[in-house]
Amino acid sequence: MSIATDTSTPGLAGGAGGPLLGLRGITKTFGAVQALNGVDLDVPAGQITALVGDNGAGKSTLIKTVSGIWAPSDGVISWEGRPVEVHTPRDADDLGIATVYQDLALCDNLDIVQNMFLGHELLTRRLLDEATMEKTAKQTLADLSVTTVQSVRQPVGSLSGGQRQSVAVARAVMRDAKLVIMDEPTAALGVSQTAQVLDLIHRLGERGIAVLVISHNLTDVFEVADRIAVLYLGRLVSSGPIADYDTQRTVELITTGGSSTRSDGNGTGNGTAESKD
Ligand SMILES: Nc1ncnc2c1ncn2[C@@H]1O[C@H](COP(=O)(O)OP(=O)(O)OP(=O)(O)O)[C@@H](O)[C@H]1O
Ligand SMILES: [Mg+2]
Repeated sequence: MSIATDTSTPGLAGGAGGPLLGLRGITKTFGAVQALNGVDLDVPAGQITALVGDNGAGKSTLIKTVSGIWAPSDGVISWEGRPVEVHTPRDADDLGIATVYQDLALCDNLDIVQNMFLGHELLTRRLLDEATMEKTAKQTLADLSVTTVQSVRQPVGSLSGGQRQSVAVARAVMRDAKLVIMDEPTAALGVSQTAQVLDLIHRLGERGIAVLVISHNLTDVFEVADRIAVLYLGRLVSSGPIADYDTQRTVELITTGGSSTRSDGNGTGNGTAESKD
């Protein structure tokens, strides 16, 4: 029941004194399947939190509860310290939560500007304000140092995977998202496109935007994240600053839930959330 008051996790204080997003006891069942089991997680503003876990651990389900796709079966979501109900993607959007899915919801036949303003087109005297939309789209991409796109009038279907990710993220930034959630943003990308997307994630952090990113690639995670959270069979078994983790320990947490290393104190600190209280 207590919401966002017990943020004993180090490095969270700052600014408003609490996390941007706080999850307490988030549980989700699908019939007999318990996809999430009492997940407690704080996502601070301006930091990049990596959400890791094996296949089926509940990562996508967790972000879908925050994005308004699934209502949690139990638990409390708080936003800027206040409990909120996120019933629909629209609710999430209104709060400033933008989710970039793997199979991005972009329209291939529309160009970059049209995609970035889809559903939120600018009008002047009931006509589309193409000039302003184009200028804003260009400026947003430039601000994020997305330089590989030839023209914002290019159909999105002609873009590379990394460029598509960039457009989806730019769309979120343009809509003033405070939290950008990304599900496996680099999974389908080659080396240089991956670098491009990681760069973009860094830049979001620099702009004070919180990022919650799911990744199976621990190299990417250790390159980009400030914090890490590990899900194991629907339970959050560990979370804390990335400096408290190394690859070996993280792999162990992902594959065993940490049961084999209960008290080795290897940087565990109090960043560990045993998610049961
Ligand atoms: N719509 C659904 N209906 C029934 N069960 C579901 C549904 N969505 C997810 N699950 C189940 O919930 C569990 C967690 O799934 P989820 O997709 O969140 O895992 P994940 O961590 O994202 O895995 P992956 O790394 O493979 O993407 C799995 O056991 C999955 O089968
Ligand atoms: Mg998933």
